[in-house]
Amino acid sequence: MCALCPLSSRPVRKSSIYLPDELKGALAELSRRSGRSEANLIRSAIEQLVEAASALSPSPAVPGPPLPRPPLPRPAVVGVGVGPGDPVLVTERARQVLEAADRVLVVTTDIRSVGRAEMVVRSACPVARVQRVAFAVGGDATARQHSLDGLVGAALDGADASELVAVAVLGDPYQWTIFPALAAAVRDRRPGVTVDAIPGITAWQALAAHATVPLAGPGAALVVVDDLDGLDRHLGDPGACVVVYKASTDATSLRAVASRHGRRGAVVGELTGLPGERHVDLDELADGPLPYLSTVVFPAVAVLPARTAAAAGS
Ligand SMILES: C[S@@+](CC[C@H](N)C(=O)[O-])C[C@H]1O[C@@H](n2cnc3c(N)ncnc32)[C@H](O)[C@@H]1O
Repeated sequence: MCALCPLSSRPVRKSSIYLPDELKGALAELSRRSGRSEANLIRSAIEQLVEAASALSPSPAVPGPPLPRPPLPRPAVVGVGVGPGDPVLVTERARQVLEAADRVLVVTTDIRSVGRAEMVVRSACPVARVQRVAFAVGGDATARQHSLDGLVGAALDGADASELVAVAVLGDPYQWTIFPALAAAVRDRRPGVTVDAIPGITAWQALAAHATVPLAGPGAALVVVDDLDGLDRHLGDPGACVVVYKASTDATSLRAVASRHGRRGAVVGELTGLPGERHVDLDELADGPLPYLSTVVFPAVAVLPARTAAAAGS
């Protein structure tokens, strides 16, 4: 006898007790195809329903006007930027997606190690259903392609099971991350799957805010480069604020390029938003390699002539 229907002697599947036969059949088929239990699929569907309903009529206990909540489609693969490291710099929208996602993919160099993006996810959204994927970040092209294939496979597993798959990355998903390549592969192999991204606060934004360095203004350029050649190419423009990312360089080399262009006042941010963070003037930085999590901002030294009235008014 079924525990939920004490008067019936027929065995009843608890997960589909309220469903008409046709829907039960479709649910069983989806469960078989996706490898997810019927209960799990029902939970996902109800979560979506509740999410959509709360967007229409937010709880009266929540103060202030409701935040607009665009619907979260399924199946979908969504890149989620989780900021440079401090969980308080994760946006509300990013948190919503992390919470609603059926799986949150995070890459790590070693499957047993909790990577930086996962740490932020754990702090900002403890209920997130995290799945770690090993990625040969420093490997050669073949190793990286192999890693990407593994990540694409994990995302497609979720998409094929009608899941909302979040891919959490530091900073912004479309800036020096694996997400653009993943998004292209998903679009290519599953054209019907929604691909989206939630922008994240970047290390250079956090550093500039902390160090009170203006990033750009009218007529000025803001350039982000990832090596010394790029820095050399752009520092010659006194109106440009130049940011160096992926600081695979050292203090002496940075100072040499800076002095070639007569640029001073650069600020170096190490571990921004993380334990042990520090912000130092480049001229005061000790010689030697910069840590991987370093960002350098060279503020503009000259404000270019104001734009024409026509341009300014546009
Ligand atoms: C692979 S890129 C990731 C960029 C990221 N998607 C973004 O939008 O900020 C890694 C580089 O970002 C910068 N970075 C990321 N997090 C940082 C942090 N907490 N402090 C300083 N720099 C950071 C460093 O230059 C690092 O080498």
